[in-house]
Amino acid sequence: MTDRATELRGEGRDIISLSVGEPDFVTPPHVVAAAKAALDAGQTRYTPVGGTSALKRAAALHFARDLGIAATVERITASAGGKQSIFHALLATLDPGDEVLIPAPWWVSYPEIVRFAGAEVVPLATTAADGYRITAARLAAAITPRTRWLLLNSPGNPTGAVYCAALLRELGEVLAAHPQVMVLSDDIYAPLRYTPGIHATLAVECPGLAERILTVSGVSKSHAMTGFRIGVACGPAWLIRAMERLQSHSSGNPCSISQAAAVAAFEGPQDFLAHWRERFRARRDTVVAAINAIPGLSCPVPEGAFYCLVDAAPLMARFGHDEALALHLLEHGVAVVAASAFGGEAGFRISFAADEAVLDEALQRIARALK
Ligand SMILES: Cc1ncc(COP(=O)(O)O)c(C=O)c1O
Repeated sequence: MTDRATELRGEGRDIISLSVGEPDFVTPPHVVAAAKAALDAGQTRYTPVGGTSALKRAAALHFARDLGIAATVERITASAGGKQSIFHALLATLDPGDEVLIPAPWWVSYPEIVRFAGAEVVPLATTAADGYRITAARLAAAITPRTRWLLLNSPGNPTGAVYCAALLRELGEVLAAHPQVMVLSDDIYAPLRYTPGIHATLAVECPGLAERILTVSGVSKSHAMTGFRIGVACGPAWLIRAMERLQSHSSGNPCSISQAAAVAAFEGPQDFLAHWRERFRARRDTVVAAINAIPGLSCPVPEGAFYCLVDAAPLMARFGHDEALALHLLEHGVAVVAASAFGGEAGFRISFAADEAVLDEALQRIARALK
């Protein structure tokens, strides 16, 4: 959709893109300054494959402060983005015939990586009515002897759904009975969460499973550093070593300059985040209210990240497929992503990582398009 929007813009059409997956805020100045200082200090050479010890210590601080996970540096590795950590973890562990459970709608790269590793995707469908969260019963019913991983993403992309501590403990009880199943907990959006209190994550709620959980995080979303390409992961030392071995033969160490910037991101002031969260929360409330006022559209209130997954099932009789609906909205000047792109159906994702005035205009266009 982003490409098609760019094309239409090239033809002179006025298109608002609500399809991007990155914050529209500027990278904090202390992070940019740290990158410049690293360059000036000549930090331009290879580093240890899984990141400098400074970055691993800074990531340990992040995991403890923001997720409540106490981890030594042997349990931490850094890569060129959360995506690469997920890629290496799955590639290092999956064999053909293995099954991977993925709650749907999902982040687009999960199924592609699983298939690339030769394993099978087992979707666990969720709906707006269940808050886009799986239940313990649903999980229990899907596990087979071939299940190797469960991929959990909270707050979720594209749904914004957040798993609370109680639900994670229920899932943990099911997982306890199936020692062959690892869990990849993708918490990259945790600092952008609108629920009170500390973020709930499986490694903390179910310490008995800690040797089977890989928690993935990073700076891309929380610090508007998508271009720096730094991700971090925390899990059992054997898996961290396997991921680093693979990384040593693929990309090698993550960019040395970006690593220095990520240290500043994790260790520096975090107060800008409260301001960003408030901006995002206000935009979210605007989007949810406007969407729910349009006949045929509805969306639950996302509790994290900067996406709303809109349910448009009542409009499918008119449009046939959600891609047709997304194209219709594009013709009316708004680019969104059809839910089917995320393994969902009959809806679309709005990213509210856009300026307030732009969002207002986009919402008016959507309302007009569906009148
Ligand atoms: C759910 C989720 N996980 C991981 C990532 C990867 O982020 P990055 O590789 O930029 O750190 C993204 C980016 O869109 C995401 O949405």
